[in-house]
Amino acid sequence: MILVTGAAGFIGANFVLDWLAQSQEPVVNLDKLTYAGNLETLASVQGDERHTFVQGDIGDSTLVARLLAEHQPRAVINFAAESHVDRSIHSPEDFIQTNVVGT
Ligand SMILES: NC(=O)c1ccc[n+]([C@@H]2O[C@H](COP(=O)([O-])OP(=O)(O)OC[C@H]3O[C@@H](n4cnc5c(N)ncnc54)[C@H](O)[C@@H]3O)[C@@H](O)[C@H]2O)c1
Repeated sequence: MILVTGAAGFIGANFVLDWLAQSQEPVVNLDKLTYAGNLETLASVQGDERHTFVQGDIGDSTLVARLLAEHQPRAVINFAAESHVDRSIHSPEDFIQTNVVGT
């Protein structure tokens, strides 16, 4: 079991699709589904028992602690990010919260 955060985004979703194409090891996907998240990318693995989606914030330490205790992942791969530079000018708080504090 691995925990992949931000896996409804561009890089994370493609990582999950690639992972499940070549591994039986399950993935828990934690994503806040901001404007950048898109579960459509993962439509082909919806219903796949190796893929568990959880909507939530990487900065929510209670939620993250629960997922770690429940699933005991052997690795965490973090793709959750505010990634659009232009937006950092309009809402820098989101960038600090996710890219620094949450990470
Ligand atoms: N896209 C590229 O070409 C590229 C290249 C090199 C590195 N990266 C890095 O890879 C990472 C992901 O990039 P991307 O292009 O997939 O970004 P993206 O914006 O497409 O996806 C980010 C994902 O993170 C989620 N997210 C945002 N804040 C969250 C939070 N607080 N908690 C949980 N989920 C949250 C969003 O809902 C979204 O699904 C970034 O760190 C980026 O810098 C991207």
